[in-house]
Amino acid sequence: MNNADNTWHLPPDNLSLPDDETHVWRASLCLSPGRIMAWQQLLSDDEWSRANRFHFEEDRNAYIAARGVLRIILGQYLNAEPTQLRFTYNQYGKPFLLPETNPEKLQFNLSHSDGLALFAFTRQREIGVDLERIQRQFEFEEIAGRFFSPGEAALLHSLPDSMKPEAFFNCWTRKEAYIKAHGEGLSLPLASFDVTLKPGKPARLIRTRDSPPEATQWRLQALWPGDGFAGALAVKGNGWRLQCWQWPD
Ligand SMILES: CC(C)(COP(=O)(O)OP(=O)(O)OC[C@H]1O[C@@H](n2cnc3c(N)ncnc32)[C@H](O)[C@@H]1OP(=O)(O)O)[C@@H](O)C(=O)NCCC(=O)NCCS
Repeated sequence: MNNADNTWHLPPDNLSLPDDETHVWRASLCLSPGRIMAWQQLLSDDEWSRANRFHFEEDRNAYIAARGVLRIILGQYLNAEPTQLRFTYNQYGKPFLLPETNPEKLQFNLSHSDGLALFAFTRQREIGVDLERIQRQFEFEEIAGRFFSPGEAALLHSLPDSMKPEAFFNCWTRKEAYIKAHGEGLSLPLASFDVTLKPGKPARLIRTRDSPPEATQWRLQALWPGDGFAGALAVKGNGWRLQCWQWPD
């Protein structure tokens, strides 16, 4: 499979997640008011109070929609009611299922941007996913100079201007997916590892400064979430294949 060639299929009725698969779901978070009302009932008390802390209704509704989709998909994999699932968070805010509601050791991560969301699931592997709307009017090189590694910033600089938006967001989403898989936020310095970014080239973790073998232990995968978006998936370990499912709106 070409690295960015993922196609989104409707999921089968008998959905399962074998050990050697990673699933990514794509979903629109723009739901009808009726659906938002119904899905509020799926949220736990802490999710409910978090939803109510959003200043803008649009952000509140996107949060409710994302948690609703997440709970329904997890419920399908675990054969559980969405409301029965209990989340816990590490000190950097990464959500996990509490072990007692996760007998199958499912790992997940999610990302949302501009009304669209990606949800990634696997078994017993660290996983991170990121989605960004590609902006075309942006100080690409200035931001790259501040956040990317010197090698990544130099490669971006060398590309023709027409390639820079895609290359920049390739780099951004790949770095973010890897950071999210680790789950330690920016305590993993962004410049301490290098990823590929050139459009048309496969996604790859090239090197890590602190632990060189780490680069061979991870697989980065470019995702193609739709026109105007960039996406990336990071999973620890090899020997898995990707399935991409479209949430039925
Ligand atoms: C959460 C974080 C890791 C990513 O934030 P983001 O890109 O704004 O948000 P995304 O939509 O991709 O992901 C948010 C989801 O990730 C999950 N999440 C939260 N904290 C997380 C963490 N530490 N690790 C992994 N996932 C996390 C949550 O499910 C969250 O969704 P929710 O708030 O609806 O529950 C952010 O705290 C962060 O540190 N970002 C780094 C920003 C940066 O400078 N990136 C530069 C890349 S070059």
